[in-house]
Amino acid sequence: MPVPAAVHVLVLGGTTEARRLAENLAASAPGSRVQVRVTTSLAGRVSAPRLPPGDVRVGGFGGPDGLAAWVREHDVDVLIDATHPFAATMSRNAAEAAARAHVPLLALRRPGWVAQGGDRWHAAGSLAEAAELLPALGERVFLTTGRMGLAAFAGAALDDLWFLVRSVDAPEPPCPARMEVLLDRGPFTLEGERALIRRHRLDVLVTKDSGGDATAPKLTAAREAGIPVVVVRRPPVPEGVPVARTPDEAVEWVRRRYASG
Ligand SMILES: NC(=O)c1ccc[n+]([C@@H]2O[C@H](COP(=O)([O-])OP(=O)(O)OC[C@H]3O[C@@H](n4cnc5c(N)ncnc54)[C@H](OP(=O)(O)O)[C@@H]3O)[C@@H](O)[C@H]2O)c1
Repeated sequence: MPVPAAVHVLVLGGTTEARRLAENLAASAPGSRVQVRVTTSLAGRVSAPRLPPGDVRVGGFGGPDGLAAWVREHDVDVLIDATHPFAATMSRNAAEAAARAHVPLLALRRPGWVAQGGDRWHAAGSLAEAAELLPALGERVFLTTGRMGLAAFAGAALDDLWFLVRSVDAPEPPCPARMEVLLDRGPFTLEGERALIRRHRLDVLVTKDSGGDATAPKLTAAREAGIPVVVVRRPPVPEGVPVARTPDEAVEWVRRRYASG
């Protein structure tokens, strides 16, 4: 493989791990004779994102064709899909674009959460399935699945339930009929999560299996309070795409590709 003078890594971001990856890549050249240049791409959903080092571009590419064109036009050597485990469309686009533009692709995915003794978890395949499970599980719902997709909980079948909706930015309708919105961004503390459950008398939690430490304390607080948790399963990583579990593993993957240079 010919080794470029500066390896241009495009990181599809929007996660803490993507930011760490950009920091780690910017801080260390992947091989002895090559420099690394990082561009992070953000979807532009969050109003005031924490920006990583390196170049940053914001907004959609216009599907896999647009992403493939951007990769070619900007001489991208390596594509890393470090989007959120539930950003399935972007992950599919990345796989298609990498194949079309003939660049290597790596997915950076933090591991999912694992149930522990005392947990009362109910798996759901989608937000809609999570909504269907709710009436049998509780009346006061702690909904932490993000502001997108709230429509799944807006149906008349859930009108008797009350929701505490926590999200980074304000949700837009359709929303649950009875709800309070709590605008907040992780990391969250165990004390804080315990207090929320107590204060709002929450009796069921809904979460995506996002993984990571920043939002995990709600699971511990739910276990302690003995309340059920509906866990929405992750979509799979597109077939054939190698996966790194941490930013360090991803840097190592880039380093190995160019180490011989
Ligand atoms: N889904 C979640 O629960 C969640 C949670 C936390 C953070 N995020 C972050 O928020 C962003 C959007 O998430 P989503 O679930 O709406 O994604 P998605 O459904 O997989 O993607 C929808 C569209 O958004 C654009 N897009 C997504 N990520 C992008 C990126 N990093 N750079 C440029 N364009 C991007 C793409 O538009 P084009 O087709 O026009 O390129 C994509 O087709 C992602 O970057 C993700 O990492 C998502």
